[in-house]
Amino acid sequence: MAKACGKIILSGEHGVVYGYPAIAQCIDRSVFVKVIPRGEPGLYFEPPNVKLRTLNSELFKQIAPKLVELFGPEISHLCFQVQSDIPPGSGLGSSAALSVALVRAIFEHNHEVLSQSDTVQYALELEKIFHGNPSGVDHTTIAAQSLIWFHQGRFENIRCLNPLHFRISTTATQAGTRALITAVRRNFEKNPRHIQTLFENIACITFQMRDAIESNDRSAVGALMTKNHFLLQDLGVSTPELDRLCESAKQEGALGAKLTGAGGGGSVIALF
Ligand code: PMV
Repeated sequence: MAKACGKIILSGEHGVVYGYPAIAQCIDRSVFVKVIPRGEPGLYFEPPNVKLRTLNSELFKQIAPKLVELFGPEISHLCFQVQSDIPPGSGLGSSAALSVALVRAIFEHNHEVLSQSDTVQYALELEKIFHGNPSGVDHTTIAAQSLIWFHQGRFENIRCLNPLHFRISTTATQAGTRALITAVRRNFEKNPRHIQTLFENIACITFQMRDAIESNDRSAVGALMTKNHFLLQDLGVSTPELDRLCESAKQEGALGAKLTGAGGGGSVIALF
């Protein structure tokens, strides 16, 4: 059984699509994929669910040609059983985790060794089907299984003496990554100077956050998360519910809180 974790973005979402840096970390929620050798070809989520079954056959129709292109024609005869404890559309990297877990499952099935860089390359091709033109931060974090600095397709691990633990609150509203990226793009075209300034300010926070993490200054990390959230509000990707979740986390004593991922719903992370 192949496994891939989910992820949270600590700083830099949206700006990262435009070439600015981001910091992201894997979480202890995962997608599991198993190849069933004699099962009916397709992608099956367990436990079975009629709604998901229709969705998955559609999804498989979309990704099967890409899997064949990448791994050969025998792939279209495989049955993939998928289990996940990452809520879909929650900004926690469910599609990127599925992409990485599928690649790992195929290599495992073929008894082939898979390097981290090949995982990243193959998973990117699948992620493009889900998200159009992803920055790559999601599946790179998941393939690296650590806390990373991501900038223009490259990544490095961030040195962190004491692991940072975040509380994740997920709303019932699903974040549509593709729709949110399109909305930000429209905003950028309408008001390039303002949006560019927001991206630059977010990038500044991302650089400061790396320093704060490496020097183990948790209060600074928290304060930077909160600042980042205000900039994401200004970018138009937050919602009243996400704002409320951030506020209540701070009232409960969080050092900082922000939305994570594309926004428009999805999740909030809080550092205590
Ligand atoms: O898919 P999500 O919701 O985790 O968002 C990913 C982060 C974005 O910067 C919005 C998109 C991207 O490709 O980096």
